[in-house]
Amino acid sequence: MESSESIHPDKNTHASGRVGSEHKLGQVIGYVTDAGSSGKVHRFYTPDGNFAVRFLNHDTIRIKMFSGDDVDWSSTQAVEPVASFADLENAVTVDVLPEESVITLATETLRVVVWKYPFSLQVFTKDGTLVYKTDSVWIDKSGSVKWIAQSDETEHFYGLGEKTSFLDKRGERYEMWNSDVYAPHVPEIEALYESIPLLLHMRETLSYGVFLDNPGRTVFDMRSRKDAYTIQTSTGDLDLYIFFGPSIKQVIEKYTGLTGRMPLPPKWALGYHQSRYSYMDQEEVLELARTFRAKQIPCDVIHLDIHYMEGYRVFTFDQARFPDPKAMMTELAEMGFHIVPIVDPGVKRDPRYPIYKEGIAGNFFCKTIEGTVYTGDVWPGESAFPDFTSDNVAAWWGEKQRFYTDLGIRGIWNDMNEPAIFNEIKTMEPHIMHDNNGNPKTHAELHNLYGMLMSKATYEGLRSQVGEERPFVLTRAGYSGVQRYAAVWTGDNRSFWEHMAMAMPMVLNLGLSGVTFSGPDVGGFAHHTTGELLTRWTQMGAFFPFFRNHSALDTLRQEPWAFDEPYETIIRDYTNWRYRWMPHLYSLFYGATQTGVPVVRPLVLEYPSDPRTTNISDQFLLGEGILVAPIYRPDTTARSVYLPEGVWYDYWTGQRYNTPGHILADAPLDKIPMYIKAGTVIAEQPVVQHHVNGSPVAGGQLLFRVYAGNLNGSSVYTFYEDDGFTFAHEQGEYNLWEITVNESGAASGAGGAADGNTTELRIEWNRRQDGYNAGRAAIDLQIHQLSFEPSTVDGLNQVSSVAELASAPTGWHYDSATHTLYVKAADDVASLTVR
Ligand code: GLC
Repeated sequence: MESSESIHPDKNTHASGRVGSEHKLGQVIGYVTDAGSSGKVHRFYTPDGNFAVRFLNHDTIRIKMFSGDDVDWSSTQAVEPVASFADLENAVTVDVLPEESVITLATETLRVVVWKYPFSLQVFTKDGTLVYKTDSVWIDKSGSVKWIAQSDETEHFYGLGEKTSFLDKRGERYEMWNSDVYAPHVPEIEALYESIPLLLHMRETLSYGVFLDNPGRTVFDMRSRKDAYTIQTSTGDLDLYIFFGPSIKQVIEKYTGLTGRMPLPPKWALGYHQSRYSYMDQEEVLELARTFRAKQIPCDVIHLDIHYMEGYRVFTFDQARFPDPKAMMTELAEMGFHIVPIVDPGVKRDPRYPIYKEGIAGNFFCKTIEGTVYTGDVWPGESAFPDFTSDNVAAWWGEKQRFYTDLGIRGIWNDMNEPAIFNEIKTMEPHIMHDNNGNPKTHAELHNLYGMLMSKATYEGLRSQVGEERPFVLTRAGYSGVQRYAAVWTGDNRSFWEHMAMAMPMVLNLGLSGVTFSGPDVGGFAHHTTGELLTRWTQMGAFFPFFRNHSALDTLRQEPWAFDEPYETIIRDYTNWRYRWMPHLYSLFYGATQTGVPVVRPLVLEYPSDPRTTNISDQFLLGEGILVAPIYRPDTTARSVYLPEGVWYDYWTGQRYNTPGHILADAPLDKIPMYIKAGTVIAEQPVVQHHVNGSPVAGGQLLFRVYAGNLNGSSVYTFYEDDGFTFAHEQGEYNLWEITVNESGAASGAGGAADGNTTELRIEWNRRQDGYNAGRAAIDLQIHQLSFEPSTVDGLNQVSSVAELASAPTGWHYDSATHTLYVKAADDVASLTVR
């Protein structure tokens, strides 16, 4: 806790604030004295530093600062392009147009104008709109570079990974330095566990993204100047990529094209996870599992926190607490549970401990430059830290996962991997060395990579050991590219309503930064939750990509039943809902593996031209057409909700809203305000208690919920399914259906369907792939909000009740009271026309 003394006038440096004082350091990069293009590379020489520019494709540029003649084009492990650089680059044609004071580099979509006196850069779209303009570039004696770009107060900033505060990062300043911040998670905290140095910039509907590939300490400052923002390095290279959208979605697609995308997770990892620091022994874990099944609250995963280990030594079980892990695993597997144990990087310095001995013998730990093994204090006491920057160390660590995989474990939780160390600077000293595959660098230069490289080693180890099964890794720390290996949780939040609220912009910006598989500790980690907070948080968490309830030592218990009724029933209902909507969620996850576009999205991603969406931080979209507006205040049963343009239905009442505009939502404790856009399709399954590898969920039963009334007449839904746990989908064993819903009206007025005069609704299945047999004969549909009473549904028979439909092979029934059409069609249906 700080007292007023911390703002004593004699202590204050007066260095911050909007004063341009930052310019006093270093010097501005001056005139370009020489320039030239060779092959794909365009070089600009100044007395203060040189810049090389190349195009990765026609609308992505990479700018690298260099000295001397050679440009080092190597990248960090963040970069793992979906297609090869060479292929991308070879497809680009760049016209170089030299003039007296500028050199223009033109592609089919962009014009990059490099000014020589002094060096600066402007980027225009083909039609001449200015998209990007540097203000100036500064360098100081230490080699720190400030790259300053112009902006104004009408512009918006997103991305930057896991940061506190609201969605729009305008007016904020952040550092990229992976940090173990137990407390406080408040707006002024500039660095948390993850560092994703990707800044998304949006002016009106024109967007670009800047990725600074530098894993040392860097700064993104959108606060200090009104007319510009600054990106600053402290060590290492200035290696910038600028992706021009024009839409944010396109920027994300390009950025994840470079840094990779999440592989399809096993379905069980999308289920509900239960955790606590810690479930103390084997019997407690089994009892927890039995309680879930007895209470019929779905759950796929139980996490084991640090107490499962012997003296917190990784790759061990405490014999007294967990005397028979194998028997425990067998019993859990019979109940359908996965176990995800925590594994931290610190290896206890103990000459009798085999992992430490192997690490010493193999030369696997980080060292000082003088060659002594570095140790720092963490849970087990004095510990050494594997140097994941070298492939042989990563391979060793990967191989060690066998301790877990031999027990049937398929998921690992990597924590404390910033790395967190209990010392004054909270991490490894900056001068500690990383071997970096024979290209030694200091920890200061590579800090932000440590956590990601640990997850990479873990993921790759698991991948090689579990045959055809998909592994799952959860990590606290990460860097750009972490999405290729791990899901991310947002660290040690607290059971505060404010932290529940802040989880929304955090998860949304992580998603915009390429990391879609993320979520907070539901219920809050530290401090004490309440029945109401846990209920409201679970309502929100059920729609986040990663859904885990986790709480800290000595806090009130927060398992779903901890607060009795009415909370337990409501929490069960929302967990059930998660499982009912699993086919939909899984389809969205599939989409993210293909494009990088996140599963949960801020409204601005889908409605960038609506200025009212730019900083909505307390509502989100699940995919395109489901709007979720959680209640995040105590004793609150109503809230305002912004509905963007389109026809929206209240999920609960079916009330139709013609928008855009704000409405007041009614939200008693058992309801989360939720709205479905006309034209939306949602794939559902019956509730299951957990996933069963190898058998289709719920016998393959599938329901498509279709919301009619689409103003535009037509919408497309991408449905994806596969076995949910192997890599057989890579061999084509999956179903990918594009389902088009088309509404047409023989209108009395000009508006047709828009006026509610729809007279025909047609659903078509474009089966782009039909490679997975889900074992079902029929699929169900429920068409809501039909504006006419149907008389025919293709060649199907009409039956007199929903119950009759259930036992018929195919058919349809219309419930005029609710305007819902129930249809049962053959699984291989190609189209349905409702008239
Ligand atoms: C860290 C983690 C937390 C975990 C605890 C004990 O604080 O963030 O999730 O429970 O360590 O392992």
